[in-house]
Amino acid sequence: MAQVGGSTARMLPGGPVAEAVLADLAPRIAALTAAGHQPGLGTILVGEDSASAGYIRMKQAKAAELGFTSPHIHLPQDATQADVEAAVREMNEADDVDSVLIQHPTPPQIDFDAALLALDPDKDVDGLHPVNMGRLALGMPGPVPCTPAGIEALLAYYEIPVSGREVCILGRGTTLGRPLALLLSQKRPTANAAVTVVHTGVPDWPEYTRRAEIVIAAAGVPGILQPEHLTPGVTVVGGGVRYAGRKLLPDVAEACEQVAGAITPRIGGVGPTTIALLFRNAVEAAERRAA
Ligand SMILES: NC(=O)c1ccc[n+]([C@@H]2O[C@H](COP(=O)([O-])OP(=O)(O)OC[C@H]3O[C@@H](n4cnc5c(N)ncnc54)[C@H](OP(=O)(O)O)[C@@H]3O)[C@@H](O)[C@H]2O)c1
Repeated sequence: MAQVGGSTARMLPGGPVAEAVLADLAPRIAALTAAGHQPGLGTILVGEDSASAGYIRMKQAKAAELGFTSPHIHLPQDATQADVEAAVREMNEADDVDSVLIQHPTPPQIDFDAALLALDPDKDVDGLHPVNMGRLALGMPGPVPCTPAGIEALLAYYEIPVSGREVCILGRGTTLGRPLALLLSQKRPTANAAVTVVHTGVPDWPEYTRRAEIVIAAAGVPGILQPEHLTPGVTVVGGGVRYAGRKLLPDVAEACEQVAGAITPRIGGVGPTTIALLFRNAVEAAERRAA
C-alpha cells in the first residue's frame, strides 16, 4: 500500500538490466572476433553540439570496451545534405562497418529522415529506418528501436508479467511510444499485452492510465504523469525525459513513487538499457554479416 511521506514502491533500475544484456553479448563478440570478424559500429556526427559529441564519445568508449572497432566520420556544422548522405554511403560500403549510428539531432539544414533513408537498413543500429519499423510491425527479425527494446528487457528482467496485462503508453512518438506499442503487442512471452496508446488526441487519457496495470510515460513532458493518474500498485516506467541544460526532467512526477507498486528511478531507469540494446543490435548486425 502507498504510504504518506515514504515510497513503498519497488525500484526498477536499468543498470543491472544493461549489465545482464551486455554479459550475454560478451561471448558472442568474442566468438565473432575469434572467427576473424571483429564487430564494427560506425558513427556519424554532424556539427559541434557538445551534448551530441559527448554521446558519441560515450558510445565509442563503450564500443572499445566491448571489443568493437568504431570508425567515425565527423562533418562540420555547415555540412550539406549531400555531404551527410555521402558519409552514410561510405559507411554502407565499408567492409569493417556492420552497423551505423547517425547522431541525432543534426543541424537545421540537414533532413535527418532523408539521411536515415540513405542508410542500409541492415546497418541501422537504432532500428528507426522505415524498413525496420515495417519489420517490427510485421514481426520480422531486424534491429528494434533501442529504448522500446530496453523497456521490454527491463520488465522481463524484473519478472513483471506483461503477457495478458493491460499496458497504457502515454505518447505515440516514433522513437518511443509507437514502436513500443508494436513491440509489447507482439506474440511473445515477454510481450503479448493489451496495449493502449494515449496522446494529445485523448484529453481524458488519465481514464486509461488509471485502469492500466503497467503505465509507460513516453511524452517528453516533465511531470505529466501524477499520482492521481495511477491505480495503487501499478508498475510505472518512465521513458520520456526533457533536459533543461544538464538537468534531467522526467515525465513521471516523483510523488508517483507513493502509489506505484514498482517504478523506474528518476535517474538510471530506462537510459542505461537503451545503450545496452543498441549494442545488441550492433552484435546481431555483425552476426548477420559474418554468417
Ligand atoms: N531514455 C531514453 O533513452 C530515450 C530514448 C528515446 C526517447 N526518449 C524520450 O522519450 C520521449 C518521447 O520521444 P519521442 O521521440 O517518441 O517523442 P515525440 O515524437 O515528441 O512524441 C511525444 C508524444 O507524447 C504525446 N504528448 C505530448 N504532450 C502530451 C500531453 N500533454 N498529453 C498527452 N500526450 C502528450 C504526443 O502526442 P501527439 O502525438 O498527439 O502530439 C506524442 O505522441 C522524449 O522525452 C524523449 O526524450 C528517451
